[in-house]
Amino acid sequence: MCNNIILIGFMGSGKTTIGRMLANKLNNFLIDTDDIIELNYDIKISDFFQKFGEIKFRELEISLCKWIKTNIKNSVISTGGGMPIIYNMRDMGNVIYLDITFEEIQKRIINDGIQNRPMIKDFKQLHSLYNERIQIYKNMAHYIVNASDSKNNIVDKIYNYLKG
Ligand code: S3P
Repeated sequence: MCNNIILIGFMGSGKTTIGRMLANKLNNFLIDTDDIIELNYDIKISDFFQKFGEIKFRELEISLCKWIKTNIKNSVISTGGGMPIIYNMRDMGNVIYLDITFEEIQKRIINDGIQNRPMIKDFKQLHSLYNERIQIYKNMAHYIVNASDSKNNIVDKIYNYLKG
C-alpha cells in the first residue's frame, strides 16, 4: 500500500484545513485534489461543473487518483467529497474519515453559502446526498475521527493513530 494519508469526508468536514495542519505536524507535503484541478484548468470547481459537467469532473478525479497512486508518496492528500464514491481510496494510502453529523454540516454550509457547492441545490438534496454517502465513507476508512471536535484534537488523534 502507498504510505500516503488520505483524508476523506463530506464537503464541509474540514479536509483541507485538517490536511494542512496534519501535513505541518508530520512535516509532509499536502496535496489538495480540488486545488490541483483548479490550478491545472485555471478555473474554479463550481465553474468547471457548469462548463464541463459532473461526468467530466469525475473522470478527472479518477485520473488524478491513479496519478497519485503511482507518483506520490509520504504525503497528506485532502480529497474532494465525491472521490470515495467513484474510486477506492485505499488504493492510494491510509484512509482517514472525518466523521461529522448532518446538523454540523448544515451549519457550516449555511455559513459558507451553497453558491460554491455545485453538488447542492437545496438542503433537502444535501441531506439525501449525505445519507447516500455516509456508509461508503465509513466502509472505506482505516480510521474514523470525530470531525466536530476541535481542530487540534482532530489532528492529535490522527497523529497518534498514525504513530501508534
Ligand atoms: C464535491 C465536493 C467538493 C468538490 C466538488 C464535488 C462532492 O469538494 O470536489 O464540488 O461531490 O462532494 P469538498 O468536499 O472539498 O467541498
